[in-house]
Amino acid sequence: MALPVLVLILVLVLVHAYKILSRIRYKLPPRPPPRPIVGNLPDIKPVLVRCFTEWSEKYGPIFSVYLGSHLKVVVNTAALAKEVLKDHDLQLANRNRMRQINKSSKNDMDLIWADYGPHYVKVRKLCTLKLFSAKRLEGLRPIREDEVTAMVESLKNKGKAMVVREYLSTMAFLHITRLTFGKRFIDSNGVIDEQGRELKNILNSSLKSGTKKSVSAEFLPVWFSIFYKNENAALDAHNARTDSFTKKIMAEHSLARRKQQEPFHRRFAHSPRGDMISAGLDTVAIKVEWALAELVRNPRVQHKAHEELDRVIGQDAPSHAPDAPPQGECGCQDRGLRRPQEEDVDVKGTGYRLLPFGSGRRICLEAQLGITLVTSLLGHMLHHFTWSLPHGVDDIDMMEQPGTVTYMGKCLEAIPNPRLSAELYKRLAVENI
Ligand code: HEM
Repeated sequence: MALPVLVLILVLVLVHAYKILSRIRYKLPPRPPPRPIVGNLPDIKPVLVRCFTEWSEKYGPIFSVYLGSHLKVVVNTAALAKEVLKDHDLQLANRNRMRQINKSSKNDMDLIWADYGPHYVKVRKLCTLKLFSAKRLEGLRPIREDEVTAMVESLKNKGKAMVVREYLSTMAFLHITRLTFGKRFIDSNGVIDEQGRELKNILNSSLKSGTKKSVSAEFLPVWFSIFYKNENAALDAHNARTDSFTKKIMAEHSLARRKQQEPFHRRFAHSPRGDMISAGLDTVAIKVEWALAELVRNPRVQHKAHEELDRVIGQDAPSHAPDAPPQGECGCQDRGLRRPQEEDVDVKGTGYRLLPFGSGRRICLEAQLGITLVTSLLGHMLHHFTWSLPHGVDDIDMMEQPGTVTYMGKCLEAIPNPRLSAELYKRLAVENI
């Protein structure tokens, strides 16, 4: 009994000594002192971006972090970001897939987690040319109009404080599922069907599975998983559920395609459509919630935005009026605000300062669709309503929520007060195209 324990301890010591030697051999950027096995995991504060900003003030613009025994390097200047995202883009184009991600991405058969290589390039090309071609997106514009006007109609009679995120999530969900699956999971009375409920549950559980505890477990040696049995079982159940949902929906989809005699792309058979949902859903809802929060706590800016909307769209334009914006002013592809110009938002990620869509080979696949959805949602919410704080509340908590994506720490609550004439609040329902 004593001998195997001794051998085990010896092996652990040797492995550890090897890692320490490797650290010394390579000249690493400065770092917070790592602990054995867990590295810097216990020191990481929940909101990563704040934690890394603090560390960068202490250790400089480039520093190392040990997540368990995995070495990561964090950079925090435009010049260094350019080195990573442009000069060494090819070497750094793979995402780090830990154990659970490996399982859910079927060992890189999806798009978001796939290694950069022939499979990735082909799937990305198919998504750009087929799923989200400019022609297809333009053709789906009436669907976007339908969803956004349905939102305006349902908000009209609220008259009291509401949790904006609940609306935004449903809106983003309806937009993205209709664009990717060609399906509306919620009927005109707002009742969600069984598949829609299942999809929402899957999406909610994937947000919860990104907690610090389960993420930390991924970076620890595999034998640590005995301490994370519940988290791992929950992740396995989540993956099985997602698989079964994707299979069902893809079977329906391929049947529909066969009926219409359209080719069905086998490469899509894994989960790029699911990828689009997870990539497009939170991002859009998050952006609109933060933007609206800024406008609610700055009534002067909200007033200016109303003035711009009234000048460009008018106060009496019906929601389906064709867009006739002055060239370059209001990009109202989906009517709304002035379409942001390239100098407003670094869509291509070439400025290496604020990179809302990332940069390089792995840059967001659908930045333009993201901007279109965000401006359309925000534009309609602002054009039709003045947003105010609930009675008795005089400011908004602007802290972030920890997690893979950065929601507001506390959900925004606000009151939508209609500001246009009643006939402009009607939904423009469109059947699937
Ligand atoms: C305002 C909304 C959006 C924001 C802020 C956003 C932001 C991002 C960011 C930061 C990345 C990571 C880039 C990197 O690793 O360098 C990304 C990747 C991605 N986004 Fe978006 N996104 C948005 C909307 C969308 C939408 C609507 C879709 C599709 C329906 C989408 C699909 C994707 C995909 C598939 C990837 C992975 C690309 C790859 O690995 O090759 N995004 N997005």
